[in-house]
Amino acid sequence: MESDRIKWNSRFASQDSFLGRGPSPFLEREMGRIKQLLSGRRALDIACGEGRNSIFLAGQGFRVTGIDISEVGLAKAACRAAAEGVEVEFVRADLERFRPAGRYDLVINFNFLLRQLIPLEVGLLSPGGIILFDSILAIPAMPPPSNPDFYLQPGELFSLFSPYDGEILFHEESQLGEMPTARLMFRNSGGN
Ligand SMILES: C[S@@+](CC[C@H](N)C(=O)[O-])C[C@H]1O[C@@H](n2cnc3c(N)ncnc32)[C@H](O)[C@@H]1O
Repeated sequence: MESDRIKWNSRFASQDSFLGRGPSPFLEREMGRIKQLLSGRRALDIACGEGRNSIFLAGQGFRVTGIDISEVGLAKAACRAAAEGVEVEFVRADLERFRPAGRYDLVINFNFLLRQLIPLEVGLLSPGGIILFDSILAIPAMPPPSNPDFYLQPGELFSLFSPYDGEILFHEESQLGEMPTARLMFRNSGGN
């Protein structure tokens, strides 16, 4: 949506790093397990923002595509990737309309919630491919969001992935830290 593009452009323009330069600690923590489970190294970063996770994955040997609506975020991401000496394909697109194609061994979806994308993300996985998902969890103590659809409800992330042919390798809801989050690792069927 155009309003998302404007909002995120302004956020990314007004501060050095919106979510920090380093990768998500969850992604970093799970990297060893992910590499053991995957034979391929093709990754898609949904709503990649300033590219912190795309750049980390490229440094880990993945061929990465990062998609986001914000050209300001993507320009910063491209500069940082070049500075780190890694190659990432950054694509500007509105994920409410654009449908990524191809096959990926790893799809990551961090701090972004568009429920209708989940079937598409599962459909993009190669056999045995993995989705790593991490997004904000609604709890009573949280201030109400501008749009309640942006927050996961308790138990919801697990329910969103349970109908698919594959295995939920990990699910956690944490109310510690600055933001309560729900996290999940899903593995498509067809792996070893
Ligand atoms: C909280 S940031 C998360 C960025 C990144 N995933 C991370 O964890 O560092 C949310 C991202 O969603 C992107 N976004 C919001 N609406 C979008 C849309 N309709 N299509 C594509 N990207 C969108 C924003 O531009 C922003 O980069």
